[in-house]
Amino acid sequence: MIKLEECSVQWKEQQLLSSINLHVYEGDFFCLIGESGGGKTLLSRLMLGWLPKGFEVSGTISAKQDKMEIILQNPIGSMQANSKVGAQFHHLLKSKGIKEKRRREQQMMQILASVGFSNMGEILNKRPFQLSGGMCQKIAIAMALISQPEIIIADEPTSALDAESQQNMMTLLWNIYRERGLTIVLITHNLNMVREYGTHVGIVKEGRLIEAGTTRQVLTNPQEKYTQELIEIFER
Ligand SMILES: Nc1ncnc2c1ncn2[C@@H]1O[C@H](COP(=O)(O)OP(=O)(O)O)[C@@H](O)[C@H]1O
Ligand SMILES: [Mg+2]
Repeated sequence: MIKLEECSVQWKEQQLLSSINLHVYEGDFFCLIGESGGGKTLLSRLMLGWLPKGFEVSGTISAKQDKMEIILQNPIGSMQANSKVGAQFHHLLKSKGIKEKRRREQQMMQILASVGFSNMGEILNKRPFQLSGGMCQKIAIAMALISQPEIIIADEPTSALDAESQQNMMTLLWNIYRERGLTIVLITHNLNMVREYGTHVGIVKEGRLIEAGTTRQVLTNPQEKYTQELIEIFER
């Protein structure tokens, strides 16, 4: 699904990612964890082919980029804060070539139901800034599902949410992963989430993927000191 071989990213004089070798297979729930500024977001953008101009990339990337969707940390920021949710859905579905209004409405209802909404009429009439972070994040997932992706990259999707919404969000992500047979790349700094959901984990530090494998392998038999420290922090 995603294969990076000896991938490096440089920006001006700075080496931001170094010699990354990473394999994500179909059906993996692959977690990337590591300290802030370590390069997780950059790595996910590399998978998507989304690095802006000025970044020098070397190595080989093969990934089903046209089958990927991304969910960001701040869902309000990735929507138009002031435009009604319904209008944004119409816009998105039109861009996917669905010309008939009735069909767009049907699809909206279906997709909102599939992420757990029951009060569609109300939601569609709201603007993102009138909704909670958790609701916005659910809508972001619904929007991502419209193009029927095979891979969802979720970049710290729960960091901006309160504890209860975090749990709801992860349950939703897990359910769609199971029901739709998706492949997930989850970026997080919470090892408990990795333990609970990840089939695989990669540890990112200072632009390197220092360790990767099945969650069980890495967590029961960590090879790197940094990984051991991370585990200790979450055992306290
Ligand atoms: N647009 C950019 N221009 C220059 N440097 C960047 C840019 N985006 C990220 N970086 C640098 O790349 C490194 C990794 O950042 P990032 O991938 O956002 O880390 P993480 O997601 O693990 O917190 C950081 O040193 C950051 O300063
Ligand atoms: Mg990040």
